[in-house]
Amino acid sequence: MATLSSGEWRERIRAAGAEELEALRLDLFGRRGVLTDAMKALRGLEPSERAKRGRELNDVKAVLEEALSRRQEELSKQALDLRLATEWVDPTLPGTHVAVGHIHPLAQMETRLEEVFASMGFEVKRGPEVEDDWHNFEALNFPKDHPSRDMQDSFLVEGGYLLRTHTSPVQIRAMEERAPGPIRIIVPGRVFRRDDDITHSPVFHQIEGLVVDSGVSMAHLKSTLFTFARTVFGAEAPLRLRPSYFPFTEPSAELDVGCLFCRGEGCRVCKESSWLEILGSGLVHPNVLRNGGYDPEAVSGFAFGMGLERIAMLYYNVPDVRLFYQGDARFLTQF
Ligand code: PHE
Repeated sequence: MATLSSGEWRERIRAAGAEELEALRLDLFGRRGVLTDAMKALRGLEPSERAKRGRELNDVKAVLEEALSRRQEELSKQALDLRLATEWVDPTLPGTHVAVGHIHPLAQMETRLEEVFASMGFEVKRGPEVEDDWHNFEALNFPKDHPSRDMQDSFLVEGGYLLRTHTSPVQIRAMEERAPGPIRIIVPGRVFRRDDDITHSPVFHQIEGLVVDSGVSMAHLKSTLFTFARTVFGAEAPLRLRPSYFPFTEPSAELDVGCLFCRGEGCRVCKESSWLEILGSGLVHPNVLRNGGYDPEAVSGFAFGMGLERIAMLYYNVPDVRLFYQGDARFLTQF
């Protein structure tokens, strides 16, 4: 077997690079390979001759396979050594700073308030931002052309719709859906008014609350609101309900918390009054219950509404509401 001097092949294998090695493997063991051919040629031999030759070929085959795999290992090790020598990391270099984002302070505050009310059995409900006159005003007992509608300068939308000026229209939607059954909901959401200064943004957020059931009284309203305010502002926070007016509640009251900044000394934030107003509330007006499909002789209810930005500004001592919307990382990363 002249072409098959295993010594010669072994030399070539030992000297081969990665690509050559693959070519050599094919030259030997491929479909047209030297050894493959020699194996095929066995068939033409006398039985005794075939056995002898077969043994020889098997020995050669074993030797060459061994040489191929040894060379293969050498080459892989060389490649690895080369990478280890050339590719390396300097662990003393400063790393790349990856900024980690987090939940917006208003969203944090919303979640916090939702949790407080969820613990008192309230469920979260949402309603549309584009409203009709009925849900935003009429059903809430705002008389047509009554000056109380001017309390809220609204954005009008084509087709007689408007951007809701408060979350109270969802009171009506909940009643229309659920009468005559009981209701205990809070409604977080965006509201829109034509206002723009350091404490007012044309788009802001409110959380509305509504409870309707038999025998609901001012006592339930007071304990619910006080529980909420004490959870958020601390068990010792001074609180008071102050008579107020809303067309959709009767009687109406605003909840004040003792000024968080001066603790009663009097300061600019509380306008020297020692109190900060945090929400509006009251017992649901009989007309509103009726408009929602309830019999005011059979059930009663209370409602409240607060501005999320206002609560967050007081809680975090933020002087300008617009800071919440400007996306300035120097501001946002403080929360
Ligand atoms: N909707 C009122 C507002 O936007 C707040 C409010 C809600 C008052 C529910 C009483 C009851 O000012």
